[in-house]
Amino acid sequence: MPSNSEYLMYVPIFADLDDVTIQKIGSVGFSKKYSKDEIIFREDDPGSAMFVILTGKVKVVRTSNDGREVILTILSQYDFFGEMALLDGLSRSASVIATEESELFIIQREEFLNLLKLHPEISINLLQELTQRLRAADLKIKSLSLKDAEGKVATVLLQLAEEIGKIKHGVVEIDKLPLQQDLANMAGTSRETISRTLHSFAKKGYVELDGAKLKILNFDKFRDSYI
Ligand code: CMP
Repeated sequence: MPSNSEYLMYVPIFADLDDVTIQKIGSVGFSKKYSKDEIIFREDDPGSAMFVILTGKVKVVRTSNDGREVILTILSQYDFFGEMALLDGLSRSASVIATEESELFIIQREEFLNLLKLHPEISINLLQELTQRLRAADLKIKSLSLKDAEGKVATVLLQLAEEIGKIKHGVVEIDKLPLQQDLANMAGTSRETISRTLHSFAKKGYVELDGAKLKILNFDKFRDSYI
């Protein structure tokens, strides 16, 4: 089984660090396994640690008072989360739930803040990632406020393509599409609209659906039409 450091060297916010520093990061945290659907923490909890995904996937969600859920993003191997409450000292901005069995590397607040002070490369990489997340959030605001149902579903497919898709010869393949209810919670629409729109995209030849596998056949054209 790979050691924590063997995973940590592939984590983008720890890119460009030498082996000694990676080993050091490996020794300041610990790993913990979570089962599918386990809640890692809830929105409004106090935050005392940040998490790096060694294996698995999680969803970042906010819930309304009447129990409706919006999925802000899905994070997978080598992504991190839980940094916001450590940086601004406020409570957790969202809940995070494992969507499959996952192993997470956990770094406590003091250790994380020390790493940022001692290794400015980590701080710069972190800022880069947070900038990308802000861009993705801007796109989502545009989609939720300005787009029709088709545009909302397309935005979610583009988001998933970026996060978990694999590109080959202009075709993006998403191996394991989230459940239609989860797609609806990401798009801010209903499960029926997701089903109808995916079939309409398939009929128009934009996508190919095979069980939980989805291919966006001409990714550049699809992105340019819907972004
Ligand atoms: P924190 O607020 O500590 O706990 C919830 C975490 O979810 C947050 O830190 C971020 O790591 C992550 N998160 C919150 N909002 C988003 C978003 N829009 N995109 C990606 N990650 C997010």
